[in-house]
Amino acid sequence: MSRKLSRCDFLKVTGLAVGGAAVARSGLGYAATRAPEIPTPGLIFGKEHTMDKPVLVTYATRAGSTAEIAAAIGETLTARSFRVEVKPVKSQPALAGYVAVILGSPIRMGNWLPEMVKFI
Ligand SMILES: Cc1cc2nc3c(=O)[nH]c(=O)nc-3n(C[C@H](O)[C@H](O)[C@H](O)COP(=O)(O)O)c2cc1C
Repeated sequence: MSRKLSRCDFLKVTGLAVGGAAVARSGLGYAATRAPEIPTPGLIFGKEHTMDKPVLVTYATRAGSTAEIAAAIGETLTARSFRVEVKPVKSQPALAGYVAVILGSPIRMGNWLPEMVKFI
């Protein structure tokens, strides 16, 4: 048994669907950039390479994996005789005195995390 949908009913249903989608999307957007409390270590590698200016590896993270990747990059560069400082971007590191800067951010909802975009 089929019931003819009036124009008014159609607009109500469409409005609810569009409104619901907008609320869901803004909720996901919030979840994507929300910062839970996780450790964001600062690390120094290759202190023995005292003659060189260090490389800065600075990172943003939400769940911690980009911090681990930043540390791995630090270890790898140190094995190749670089001095490396790894710092969370939220500590707003000054750029003076580094020979190079490496930036790391996860992508959430198609974007870098806002604190890294702001830092850039
Ligand atoms: C809510 C959410 C949205 C995400 N959006 C994307 C995206 O648009 N593109 C992508 O490649 N990865 C996306 N990811 C995957 C994250 O970038 C990936 O898990 C990243 O390693 C997380 O880094 P973190 O542990 O340092 O926070 C998303 C993850 C989450 C939880």
